[in-house]
Amino acid sequence: MIFKVPELCKKIIITGGAGFIGGTLVRKLLRDSECKIFNIDKFGYASDLTGIHNEIKLLGNDLKRRHNIIKIDISNKQILSKTFQDIDPDFVFHLAAESHVDKSIEGPEIFLRSNVLGTFNLLEVSREHFEKLSPERKKVFRFHHVSTDEVFGSLNNKSKFSEKSPYRPNSPYSASKAASDHFVRAWQSTYGLPVSISNCSNNFGPWQLPDKLIPLAIYNAIKDELIPIYGNGQNIRDWLFVEDHIDAILHVAFRGLEGSTYCIGGCNEYTNLEVVNLICDFLNNKVPKTNDYKDQISFVEDRPGHDFRYAIDNTFIYSDLGWKPTYSFEEGLRNTISWYLENINWCEKFVNSGP
Ligand SMILES: NC(=O)c1ccc[n+]([C@@H]2O[C@H](COP(=O)([O-])OP(=O)(O)OC[C@H]3O[C@@H](n4cnc5c(N)ncnc54)[C@H](O)[C@@H]3O)[C@@H](O)[C@H]2O)c1
Repeated sequence: MIFKVPELCKKIIITGGAGFIGGTLVRKLLRDSECKIFNIDKFGYASDLTGIHNEIKLLGNDLKRRHNIIKIDISNKQILSKTFQDIDPDFVFHLAAESHVDKSIEGPEIFLRSNVLGTFNLLEVSREHFEKLSPERKKVFRFHHVSTDEVFGSLNNKSKFSEKSPYRPNSPYSASKAASDHFVRAWQSTYGLPVSISNCSNNFGPWQLPDKLIPLAIYNAIKDELIPIYGNGQNIRDWLFVEDHIDAILHVAFRGLEGSTYCIGGCNEYTNLEVVNLICDFLNNKVPKTNDYKDQISFVEDRPGHDFRYAIDNTFIYSDLGWKPTYSFEEGLRNTISWYLENINWCEKFVNSGP
C-alpha cells in the first residue's frame, strides 16, 4: 500500500534503526521518501547496518546523504537532549528496545533501563522540543511508539487481542514494553504530546538475528545442527512479515488518529512446531539432503512463564485505515528462507544457542 509523508516532515528520527524492524523502516523511508533519517541506536549485540549499507550501494549516494547514524544510548537523557536539539526533528519513530524475552529473564535490569527509562527520556526531550515548535510544525509532529502484543499477556481460547484488551504482561520484556506504552499514553493525556502507539504480533523476514525462532530454525537446519523448540511446540503465534509491519506503522503514524492505539496482526496463527515443519518442508524441496530436515527437531525445556497464544483482531486498523497484510504466511516464509539461503554468511557472526 502507498504511504504519504506529510509535506512539512523533512527530518525523521528513528530509534533502534540498526535493529531488525527499525532497519527495515529506515530502508523503506530512504527508498520511498525524500526525508533525512536520523538513525539513533546504541549499537548493541542486535545491531547491524549491512542491510542499510547494501540498499545505499544499490540506490546511490543520495540515500547515503540522507542517512545519519547517531550512536547513543537513549537511557542517557543529557546526550539525548543535545542530540534532539541538534537534529530539530519533525517526527519520531520509537523502536529502540531490548527485544529478546529469554535475555529479559536472564537479566531484566537492562530492559528497565532501555525500554522504560529510555522511552521516558525520549518522551521528555520530545515534549521539550514540541513545545518550542511553530504552530505549523506542531501540526505535523508526532511521536510514534512501536510496541508488541505481548503486553496483553497470553490467550488460552479462541478470543483475540484488540485495542480494548487489558494489559497483563508476563515476562520482564513484556512488562517493560507495557510500562513504556503507559508512559507514552500519559504524555499525550498530561502534556498534549501528539503520540500514536502500535501493538504488533511476531515479525519475521530478512535481517532478523538468528536468535529468534524462524531465523534460528532456518540457520540450524542448513548447518546440520539441532533445531530447538520450546516445550511441546504447541505455543501459538500470529506471524506478520516485516514489510507488512512497516507498511502498517507508516499508515498509523502518518494517518492514524492522534492519541490512539492500533493493534497489528498477520492473521496467521501457527504453532511453533507447525512453523518449523513448514521450514523443513521448504528446505526438503529446495535443498534436499539424505535425511529429512525434520529429524533435526529437538524439543527443549520450556521457557518459564511462556505465553501460550497470541492473536490479533485487525478490525480497527482495517476499518479506520484500510490496512491489512499483503503477504500470506507461506509467501513471506518462502521469501525469508530464500533470503537466508543466500545470506547465510551474514548469520555467522550472530550465532547463539537457544531458541
Ligand atoms: N520482533 C518482533 O517480532 C516485534 C514484534 C512487535 C513489536 N516489536 C518491537 O519493535 C521494536 C524493534 O524490534 P526488533 O525486533 O527490531 O528488535 P532488535 O533487537 O532487532 O532491535 C532493537 C534495536 O534497538 C537498539 N537499542 C536497544 N536499547 C537501546 C538503547 N538503550 N539506546 C539506543 N538503542 C537501543 C538495539 O541496539 C537494536 O539495534 C521493539 O520496540 C520491539 O519491542 C518487535
